[in-house]
Amino acid sequence: MNVILFGPPGAGKGTQAQLLAKRYGIVHLSTGDMLRQAVASGSALGQAVQKIMAAGSLVPDDIMIELIAERIEAPDCANGFILDGFPRTTPQAEALDAMLAEKGMSLDRVIWIEIDDAILVDRISGRFNCAECGAGFHDSFHRPKVEGVCDGCGAREFSRRKDDNAETVKARLEAYHEQTAPLLPYYRSKSIVETVDGSTQISDVAGRIETILEGV
Ligand code: AP5
Repeated sequence: MNVILFGPPGAGKGTQAQLLAKRYGIVHLSTGDMLRQAVASGSALGQAVQKIMAAGSLVPDDIMIELIAERIEAPDCANGFILDGFPRTTPQAEALDAMLAEKGMSLDRVIWIEIDDAILVDRISGRFNCAECGAGFHDSFHRPKVEGVCDGCGAREFSRRKDDNAETVKARLEAYHEQTAPLLPYYRSKSIVETVDGSTQISDVAGRIETILEGV
């Protein structure tokens, strides 16, 4: 099963992708996570993208396409994947189609997590992740079951993203509306888009996505 989770920053793509990856045993491919790992490692890629990400702008298409093309080649993607944060532009979407066609694969669904911008700033400013396993949490909506301890791996260290501040979130939302949202008609023309209300509780969003994927 090959699925794209599509939506603005803070819609819940990463949250739902983690749940789906566990449920279906398929790989979660987050381009944001890959880029943050590159920045943390200080690699040439990390140095090239650091400022772009901090400004909330999109990383150039050629870099992103190469990153995903390499990742999709890995054996763990053979059973399927959940894309979170890719594609974000028309050239990225077209390149993805070409990559999949070459491998005899195709996209099963694009799940559009629809949500109002007004909700997203609160979502993003309250977000934090386990520093060890990356599991996502939120100050109000999704606290660890035991305070200060990660539900997933038991670690006690957490981190917050550098681009989760009000000014950068505004730039990220603009990038989404200008460059990414226009991809919806592209996927609608292939009749693979399903819409989910992202303003409901995490478990309700997950239930709705599972119902959609039962039909795949
Ligand atoms: P990326 O890491 O992809 O960030 P994003 O798209 O801005 O998305 P987020 O990770 O902020 O949001 P999310 O939808 O995953 O929400 P989450 O589940 O965490 O990209 C970062 C940067 O990398 C980009 O700005 C760009 O520079 C670059 N980049 C990445 N990919 C690129 C590409 N393809 N091309 C070019 N550049 C690229 O949820 C948010 C919070 O809300 C969490 O705390 C969560 O617990 C909570 N929450 C989730 N769902 C709910 C719910 N239903 N109810 C209540 N709370 C909820």
